[in-house]
Amino acid sequence: MDIAHARFLFPGVRDRVFLDAACVSLLPLPAEEALARLSEDLLRCPARDASAHHIALDRTADDARREVARLIGAAPEQIALVESTTQGLQIVAAAVPLTAGDNIVVAGTEFLGLAVPWVPRRQHQGFDIRVVDCADGRVTVERFARVVDGRTRLILLSSVQWTSGYRVDLAGFRELADRHGACLVVDAIQQLGAIGLDVTKTPIDFLVCGGHKWLNAPVGRGFLYVHPRQLECCPTPTWGYLNIVEPAEGWANYFATPSLPAVRDYQFTSSARRFEIGGTANYPGNVVLASAVGLINTLGIASIEAHIRRLTDQLLADLPAAGARVVSCPEPECRSGIVTFTLGGGPARDRACLDFLLARRILISQRYTQGVGGLRVSVHFFNTEDDLRQLVAAVAEFQRR
Ligand SMILES: Cc1ncc(COP(=O)(O)O)c(C=O)c1O
Repeated sequence: MDIAHARFLFPGVRDRVFLDAACVSLLPLPAEEALARLSEDLLRCPARDASAHHIALDRTADDARREVARLIGAAPEQIALVESTTQGLQIVAAAVPLTAGDNIVVAGTEFLGLAVPWVPRRQHQGFDIRVVDCADGRVTVERFARVVDGRTRLILLSSVQWTSGYRVDLAGFRELADRHGACLVVDAIQQLGAIGLDVTKTPIDFLVCGGHKWLNAPVGRGFLYVHPRQLECCPTPTWGYLNIVEPAEGWANYFATPSLPAVRDYQFTSSARRFEIGGTANYPGNVVLASAVGLINTLGIASIEAHIRRLTDQLLADLPAAGARVVSCPEPECRSGIVTFTLGGGPARDRACLDFLLARRILISQRYTQGVGGLRVSVHFFNTEDDLRQLVAAVAEFQRR
């Protein structure tokens, strides 16, 4: 299937110009069909008994792990399924031990959720959170290098910044982290699904990504990738019965044998599943994530990226003529699926333009952080040149009024 055809899998683009995947994206039809198949199974329990049914439901996680692993060049054993980016970060915060005198480093322009799991811990664990000033929106290695030192345990980053779409130099941050023996923790929710990322080329210690933005899986499911060296050395953050290796006698025998003790020294899995939290899980989330990411893998992330690049080239060229100032950095290596612009009259004028666009069923968002931002346009593979023409024409009309 090619990208032009893939647009028809998104009924949500039929009656409007949808340019807001960076907020919450649209579900594709194959994912909705996968969800309907699961609902049918849940209604009827097609297996011989409910135990086999439960096992089949648990296996939906395998497909989700496989597809997200394929997307980032990882192995399925390196993937833990989580509810959200935030839950992935909470798990990392619980897993990586920090002590008094340590520090973690984060940009001042980040989405607030990135650092929150560490904020209450800093007082009782005695570590410092160093905030790097990136007031022009450029989250650069050079700026971080000025504050990272031998006591830095974590560098926390979004690989694509949420208000400006600035794409960071992950390879440079990897080198910086290695020079100081720090872990690189990456929130890739504004990148994956639009722009490729291969963890074999750019090793990341922990990568978190919710499904509801560029992965087109808005059902409360995402993933945490854990690098093999962290799998080896990092303590397990929480323990539950699904983190253990199946009892030697197998679950069926375990349930059917009265003499087996419930409390014993279980062996815990060495895969990233030991980072997963909870028991019976989000099965709808599993099937939707597997299907939506499967579609991205089928289209190919390189083709998706090229399509997005072509459309964002067009947008960057056309916005100034409509009277808008582009906030996003134009350098090719810093670009992403997000193009942010402002009309220059402050947030109230941008807000008025947003309302004007929404009234014409052109969906974008208004986002700022620490002075960086404006009207954020998200260009995904289901978008077309015509979507962007309509947006630019409406902005020009608003400016002429
Ligand atoms: C960079 C970034 N990280 C995290 C989130 C929140 O993700 P989740 O709801 O999956 O925790 C957002 C949402 O806007 C975001 O932009």
